Amino acid sequence: MPIPKFDAGSPRELASVMHGDAWDLLRNFPAATFDSVLTDPPFAIGLTKNEYGRPHWDRSKIALDPAFWQEVRRVMKPGANLLAFGHPKTFARMSVAIEDAGFEVVDCLALIHGQGFPAGFRHLDGELNRVGATDIAGDYAGFGNMMRPALEPILMFRNKSSRESLASVIAAGGVGGLNVEACRIPAGTEDRSRTPGLVNSNQTWRVERPAGTKSTPPSAGRMPSNVLLHHAESCAEDQCVAECPVGQVHEQGLASRGRNEDATRFYQTFFHHPKATKDERPEVDGMSGPTVKSLAVMDWLVRLATRPGQLVLDPFAGTGTTLEACARAGVRSIGFEKETAYLPLISQRLDRLV
Ligand SMILES: C[S@@+](CC[C@H](N)C(=O)[O-])C[C@H]1O[C@@H](n2cnc3c(N)ncnc32)[C@H](O)[C@@H]1O
Repeated sequence: MPIPKFDAGSPRELASVMHGDAWDLLRNFPAATFDSVLTDPPFAIGLTKNEYGRPHWDRSKIALDPAFWQEVRRVMKPGANLLAFGHPKTFARMSVAIEDAGFEVVDCLALIHGQGFPAGFRHLDGELNRVGATDIAGDYAGFGNMMRPALEPILMFRNKSSRESLASVIAAGGVGGLNVEACRIPAGTEDRSRTPGLVNSNQTWRVERPAGTKSTPPSAGRMPSNVLLHHAESCAEDQCVAECPVGQVHEQGLASRGRNEDATRFYQTFFHHPKATKDERPEVDGMSGPTVKSLAVMDWLVRLATRPGQLVLDPFAGTGTTLEACARAGVRSIGFEKETAYLPLISQRLDRLV
């Protein structure tokens, strides 16, 4: 299969899709082709089902296999970032597989949302009654088998190099690092920080102020953190709905100390539903992707991990959210997708780029 070529032109021409299995398609590419990999792999949660779970469609182990990530690493330049969404049940195994493939762990981001549904929840008192353990059922009133899902981990790695520092890797290959400046948390106007003067012992950071004095965050905004809060789908810019985690953190910050402490100021916040709004989600002949990512989050990750003009790979494109976000940022991208049915969804998404 020929490797896509890119014409400098409209954003639509920055994105390409290759139909097939990621393993096979990777073999088409020479070593050190890609500047970054941003992806949302199959999570293999079907492998973790317990007695209460239903059989699950997501049983592919590809993202848990170090050999697969070694092949991904081969096509990445030294220093290139790899960002991969995970699932709370399987991200630890995925993380070990990626590290075993020779990547350096950089971080694990936590994307928090408020509208997860605990599919498969069981009230254990009812279950105990059903299996005849009526004598202890009452002791288990209020017990269940799972939590409501509100966390999406995003694993962050770097393609390890034998060079001694990140700066020397970037100097040699022009790839690496995180664009924290482009991802700062917007600063409010109020004077909010009460951090006393601190100097850390190894001098990796310094804040020198007389203890107890206030400071304002930099006008460009706070340094981005590894916690991302997603608004509920029905939030407006100036009004959060009750189930929104951003609104809840804000309210609890205000209530906890009786002062104007907006606790959300420490976190990057995103509008739109974390599983993508209806407007964002492509649909062709009544079909849409079941695991569509938020375009707002993907836009931010692209800004963080790439520079305009670079080339990104998404080996598990789904409906193409990564490709759309890359094109919106002026970044070239190639997506692999094995399901024929998803290809029209990717086209619909990319065709709306002008
Ligand atoms: C979690 S979904 C990605 C969803 C995507 N982030 C979006 O926003 O639409 C994972 C995708 O990987 C595809 N996939 C799974 N195994 C694959 C493989 N071996 N090669 C290529 N694609 C694969 C699935 O068909 C699915 O569309």
